[in-house]
Amino acid sequence: MKKERILVTGGTGYIGSHTVVELQEAGYSVVIIDNLSNSNADVIDGIERITGVRPDFVEGDCTDIAVLSKLFTDYPDIKGIINFAASKAVGESMHKPILYYRNNLNTLLNLLDLMGPNGVKGIVFSSSCTVYGEPDENPVTEAAPIKKATSPYGNTKQISEEIITDVINAGAPFKSVILRYFNPVGAHPSAEIGELPNGVPQNLIPYLTQTAIGIRKELSVFGDDYNTPDGSCIRDYINVVDLAKAHVIAVERMLTDKTEDKIEIFNLGTGNGVSVLELIHTFEEATGVKVPHKIVGRRAGDIEKVWADPAYANEVLGWKATSSLADTMRSAWAWQQKLRERGIM
Ligand code: WQD
Repeated sequence: MKKERILVTGGTGYIGSHTVVELQEAGYSVVIIDNLSNSNADVIDGIERITGVRPDFVEGDCTDIAVLSKLFTDYPDIKGIINFAASKAVGESMHKPILYYRNNLNTLLNLLDLMGPNGVKGIVFSSSCTVYGEPDENPVTEAAPIKKATSPYGNTKQISEEIITDVINAGAPFKSVILRYFNPVGAHPSAEIGELPNGVPQNLIPYLTQTAIGIRKELSVFGDDYNTPDGSCIRDYINVVDLAKAHVIAVERMLTDKTEDKIEIFNLGTGNGVSVLELIHTFEEATGVKVPHKIVGRRAGDIEKVWADPAYANEVLGWKATSSLADTMRSAWAWQQKLRERGIM
């Protein structure tokens, strides 16, 4: 039996495209809206090559309520939303705060405004471990205090969670599952989709693989004077396919009324903290490819160390990140090589 229609905002993006694959493989109908500001439409061909199903696609900006309103008119069967559409680079947000607040918050406000009148049952929100700021202790549980954001990007995630809470507590006729991602990395094992930001990558892994293949001369490691075993920052690097699968479970929970509360919050991580230098070494061992790198100064806005305690998601969602970091690094490398084969990069 055909499952419901899900709207995926930002669905040609990195995490969005991997989630569309998992949704379609679980039998959902998907419509994507994306303004292609940090992705391109040929991702949809990749999704189709993997699943044999081509998702519907609307090019549009979710900060324009007229565009979104027309989408709900054209797709009256949307029962759930996964909202990925947001600007997401910690470093960039330090220099472009207005862009981050306008894009990330107006998108969410428009969606929440339109969900009730259009009979949408729930929204899965793409949040982030950055809401914890610099945590007092690691691993981080969902009960950890929300610390003052160290970047406008992180602040948009905190404010978004508060907006969702206020709207639902005011009686909105829908639910929400908030997923706090740690660091999504890697690519689909088919190498048909992966991370492909426009321009110079802000995130570690695309910059690392572009260095490994020779596009970038050298990877800069932003600081080795942190209070960590090797001095470089520690993160919880979670395979993007493992992460995508958690979204399907979250949608099912909302649409089949399994959620225990109208709002549920989960940390999505592996539970393992890995430093930048450890990650570089893991990539080199897993692929046999050297990554030229040098230590430079710290990057403004960076957290020193943060990794998840995923026990709540493991238990309540019945979900666990299963990919090894080595396999995940190999998937990122296979994707970078595919881009080279296709002459894209
Ligand atoms: C990781 C580490 C850098 C680039 C990410 C996402 C954000 C959010 C939180 C989901 C840091 C270091 C990086 C480089 C480096 N995720 N680094 N050289 O900042 O943890 O944020 O997770 O919502 O959307 O961006 O990720 O990949 O930028 O940095 O040394 O060229 O790698 O200092 O320690 P970050 P990142």
